[in-house]
This record gives sequence, C-alpha cells and structure tokens, in this order.
Amino acid sequence: MSQPVQPAINAATRLCAVYGSPIAHSASPAMHNAAFAALGLNWRYLAFEVDPKNLRAAIEGAKVMGFAGINLTVPHKLLAVDMVDKLDESAKTWGAVNTIRFGPEGAVGFNTDADAIVTALHEDLAMSLRGAKVLLLGAGGAGRTAALKLAAENVAELFLANRTSSKAEQIAGEITRRFPSVRVSVGYPRTAVDLLVNATSLGLKADDSSPLDEQQFSLKQVRAVYDMIYRPVETKLLAAAEAAGCRTANGLGMLLHQGAKAFEIWTGRPAPLDVMRRALEQNIYGH
Ligand code: ATR
Repeated sequence: MSQPVQPAINAATRLCAVYGSPIAHSASPAMHNAAFAALGLNWRYLAFEVDPKNLRAAIEGAKVMGFAGINLTVPHKLLAVDMVDKLDESAKTWGAVNTIRFGPEGAVGFNTDADAIVTALHEDLAMSLRGAKVLLLGAGGAGRTAALKLAAENVAELFLANRTSSKAEQIAGEITRRFPSVRVSVGYPRTAVDLLVNATSLGLKADDSSPLDEQQFSLKQVRAVYDMIYRPVETKLLAAAEAAGCRTANGLGMLLHQGAKAFEIWTGRPAPLDVMRRALEQNIYGH
C-alpha cells in the first residue's frame, strides 16, 4: 500500500504544538508529525519552551494565530485550568488540562492523561485495576490525576507517598469525598501491593535517586511497577524493580495514548496508533 504524501508547508498549513519547561527532549513532535504525514494532512507539530509566567499569553497567541490545538506538559497542566474559555468534562473531572483545542468556542481544555494511564497499565502490564492495591509515588500534577483516576477505576486500596506529605493528604481527602469506597492512606503500605506507580519527576536526571525509599518499602512486596518517565528508558526505579522480579513498564504507552486522544480531538480523525507508536520507539529507543 502506498503511503499518503504529506503536502509541503504552505499558507494553509495547520499548526499544533506542545508547551512546557523544559521541553527540548519531548518526543511529542516526532509522534504527531508522523501521524499527520501518515494521513496526508497538511499539519505540523512544534515544541515551545514556555515559562509559566508567559503561559496565558502563549495560549492566547496560539488562539489568535489560528493554531488547531496545543498540548501542555510540566509545569502547565494545573495552571491552564484557569486560562481556557471552556473546560471539557474530562478536564473538569480530573482538574488538569493537557490538551487545548482552538475553534468557534474559543480555547477548550481537555484532559487525555487520565484515560491514557489506565490504557497503558492494561496494555503494558496486563493490569486490571478493580480491586487492586496500589502504591502511588508523587502528588504533583501527574500524581493527582493518577490518584483520582485510579480511585475512579475502583482500586481497593491506594497508598499515596510524597516528599511533601501535605499534598498527598490533600489528594487523599479529595478521594475520600469523591470515591468513598476506596481505602486511601498517606505513606508507605505495611502489606504487599499489586502495583507501584511513579508519578514524581525523580529519575528524569541521571543523578536522581530512586523515588522509592526501600528502607520503608521493599520492591519484593510489589508485582508490577509503572514509571511515567520514558526518558531515560530505564530509571533506577525500573532497574531495581526488574532485579526484584517485578513486571515493569516505562511511560511510553501513556505518552502514546494521551497523544492519540489529543490527535483525535484536533483532527476529528482516528489516530494511526501503530504509526505513532513506531515514531515514539524510534525517537526514544533509537530503533
Ligand atoms: P508533574 O506535573 O510532573 O507532576 P510537579 O507537579 O512539579 O510535576 O510534581 C513533581 C512531583 O515530583 C511531586 O510529587 C514532587 O514532590 P513534592 O510534592 O514534595 O514537591 C516530586 N519530586 C520532585 N523532586 C523531588 C525530589 N528531589 N525528591 C522527592 N520528590 C520529588
């Protein structure tokens, strides 16, 4: 089958982008540009380093210049909730915006991260969440969305561990109000868990320590470990988990599925998942 030919950039080219800080290592442009090319769309996806103090102006700029949409990554997902004209149900439910679509309604904020977490855990770790016991590390933007979504998926028990425990306590309080059937507590478990998820940023830098305090909780008590980080491909946490005999996966699958949903929101076309996955693997694994 011949590949569709992507039109050259011209005055009709539609633009999408990701805003973040830092952004230089984002794999999203590779993923989305491969998808646009596969569908023969005259669209392009760029990455911009945007300081949080300029986020509102940058969103407004994209809107008035007719961008189709943008993604937001660290540290913008919570800030953007107050910077869009309208929130889709997904952004209201999870309290964070990682995707904006520009159109007749103005800037509409969506959240495609929450569903992506569940899809990735299912695909990459064969994990069904209903009734599971889960230890979640991190209570920032990514940790909060993950905690609420895991609760909505009816995990039996959720342990929230974070350097700043007040943030974990705030999330635990919200889960108790919204999902009263989930047992939630702050700190490390005293029993074995089915799944450990890293939603902290510890591991992104080569000299970062592991986000798990193994003095307090041993990886021998965990069946599967998911690290939302995808670069480096194997964090210290994942290497230790593998050595301890756990099933492991990095954040590639989550990046893929949040991106695929964003692509569909912007273009109205089904995302070419295989093309997007291959582009990410090429960009992240180099083969
Ligand atoms: P994101 O949107 O990726 O979640 P974030 O909101 O800045 O980014 O959250 C970063 C998370 O990593 C937080 O849970 C943070 O812990 P604190 O809430 O205590 O700040 C965690 N984190 C970052 N650096 C850390 C470090 N050196 N040690 C432990 N946890 C760290």
